[in-house]
Amino acid sequence: MIIIKTKKEIDYIKESSLIVAKTLQLCKSYVKPGITTLELDAIAEDFIRSNNGIPAFKGYSQGYGIPFPGTICSSVNEEVVHGIPSNRVLKNGDIISIDVGVKKNGYFGDAALTVAVGEISEEKKQLMEITEKSLYKGIEAACVGNRIGDISNAIEKFINPYGYGIVRDLCGHGVGKHLHEDPQIMNFGKANSGPEIKEGMTIAIEPMINLGTWRVNVLDDGWTIVTKDNQPSAHFEHTIAIINGKAEILSKI
Ligand code: MF3
Ligand code: CO
Repeated sequence: MIIIKTKKEIDYIKESSLIVAKTLQLCKSYVKPGITTLELDAIAEDFIRSNNGIPAFKGYSQGYGIPFPGTICSSVNEEVVHGIPSNRVLKNGDIISIDVGVKKNGYFGDAALTVAVGEISEEKKQLMEITEKSLYKGIEAACVGNRIGDISNAIEKFINPYGYGIVRDLCGHGVGKHLHEDPQIMNFGKANSGPEIKEGMTIAIEPMINLGTWRVNVLDDGWTIVTKDNQPSAHFEHTIAIINGKAEILSKI
């Protein structure tokens, strides 16, 4: 069931999403060779709490295995998403996806970006750029008159010419009083399919794009998703609301 939000609820989701956006920019400013993902996690947690938010991922449970231990998901190179912050030291040439969720006033915001560590290869640079652009293609397709499948299709159509792998096992989602609500938003699919996009919907769109195969594995930690061929992956996410018929990005400064 897709929950349509009131103006006031969207304001709350916007407040949480704004903290997410600021946290991401803060973390990004600290990404350099030599920093650990756990240090980034601490920076994020302090900032969120000092803004009276609650880190949404910390303690989040999939219903089995360990609850997610971090404030951020930090996913390096072949790690696609859900990387657990650790003593891993970032090094020149890495790319790191940082994913942040915040709860405040009972409502969630959720966003992610991928950042270069020092100097990276052209291959990685293009993967990041194209993944971010695909997110904006999806956002443009999120308007009244379209269906959820039009978002998925816009992302797929944009990515396909590059030959990248579109992760099929994970997807975007509704956001509100819960971090994950209906509908599911795949990053590939048929145009003019799925639920109609309506005024007051709030959703997180999050393409996860691999340089090589779309296939992924889960590590033994129960969380970290990695590419099957160990090639790098990029991830960008925004929380948006459908206002006046089109998408407003809530998770931007
Ligand atoms: N943006 C991701 C998602 O929507 C982050 C979830 S991390 C988790 O699934 F720890 F909360 F699972
Ligand atoms: Co999400």
